[in-house]
Amino acid sequence: MRVYGPIHLENSWHLRHSILTYFLKGFMKPRIWILLSLFLLFLIFINFFSLWNLHHFYALSIGGLIFLLFINNALLIFLNPYFQKKPSTALTRVIRAFLNPLWVHWTFFSFFYSLTLLIFSIFFKCVPWFHAEDLKWVSSFFISGWVVLLGWGIYTALVPLHLSRFNIVLPRLPASFNGFKIAIGSDFHIGLFSRTQRLTQIFETMAAYQPDLVVLLGDLTDDDAFYIPKLLKGIEVLDPHLPILGILGNHDIYGDPHSAIQQLAHSRVHLLINEGFEFKKNAESIWIAGISDYAATYFEKLRPHLVPDFNRTLAHKPPSSPTILLAHQPKAFHESIKRHIELTLCGHTHGGQLGFPFLNWTIVKPFITWDRGLFQNQGSQLLVTSGVGYWGAPFRLGLQPELVFLNLQFPLESHAHV
Ligand SMILES: [Fe+2]
Repeated sequence: MRVYGPIHLENSWHLRHSILTYFLKGFMKPRIWILLSLFLLFLIFINFFSLWNLHHFYALSIGGLIFLLFINNALLIFLNPYFQKKPSTALTRVIRAFLNPLWVHWTFFSFFYSLTLLIFSIFFKCVPWFHAEDLKWVSSFFISGWVVLLGWGIYTALVPLHLSRFNIVLPRLPASFNGFKIAIGSDFHIGLFSRTQRLTQIFETMAAYQPDLVVLLGDLTDDDAFYIPKLLKGIEVLDPHLPILGILGNHDIYGDPHSAIQQLAHSRVHLLINEGFEFKKNAESIWIAGISDYAATYFEKLRPHLVPDFNRTLAHKPPSSPTILLAHQPKAFHESIKRHIELTLCGHTHGGQLGFPFLNWTIVKPFITWDRGLFQNQGSQLLVTSGVGYWGAPFRLGLQPELVFLNLQFPLESHAHV
């Protein structure tokens, strides 16, 4: 099975200049630069608004506030990998692993804390029997609730593992593939704190399903290809004859994608980068394809060969074979609909790591139509998994880490979500 295209592998360190270099050399689009600047202004506002209120309600000293401000944003100021000009070292990896969750938790806290206080201060101004001093009770109630939810969210991100099973009917599925089973894992975000036992548990759970194929839908590591060996250690529990396909996610592109590509080229994970292949069974076949990630478009001049390319991905597809497309980001589904791709498998959203499946709601639903679950549009189907890992900080509320098991079926079979 040949799955590698002529990807030009080069020493890619020079691609990892700082974000400032990207801009100054014209590699970053002005739109992205403007969005980053607005985001920075927003961060400054919520930081100072939250700290000023904490000082006001709980008499925090100015020195303490400056200390909090520094510690909570140290990652952003000094240790963000996008600002580094030199390769990560063991020390910077350890420091980042500690500061990254701190920054993410603080940023989310300061955003929701600021929002809550602003809403209640407006409310208290409109309702005469409340006073401005009552905001302290709102603040204390919010902080207490946040601490409880934090504990629950950290537990949910690290311990449970939810199994979602879908029977997928593909109208043009060859008879030989009726009952073909695919195990899907996405968004591993492997980093310093990713536990080997957890990865083993994930892949043992996949193995127990006895799949015909395992797919890894990107964000294999958390911006750092250094941790690819942890992934490879985890998959050792899978049957050596079981095919494993992978694609790159945006966090693989942000890090050192060429290092990830090179390491995986020497492993049993077959990475699909804008290419597909004919998966044969008896005399029949399905076309399994994988596109690169859209994050490469931000750095198009630096990484042109990693920009998603549907034409190349589908170039050699036999007309009679249905296509299963692996794409990290669900926005690929727009193109899948246009090209009548039967089934698209995606990750990326994490469901925002906050949602309630029984309400079919996630926090990213207002921004991403295809946030999690199974969708259909004009004969094309899309499955979005909320992934097994977490971004930024160990926190998931209402959405447990998820493995997805698919069972492909003939049209005559019932179409049911178990
Ligand atoms: Fe992700």
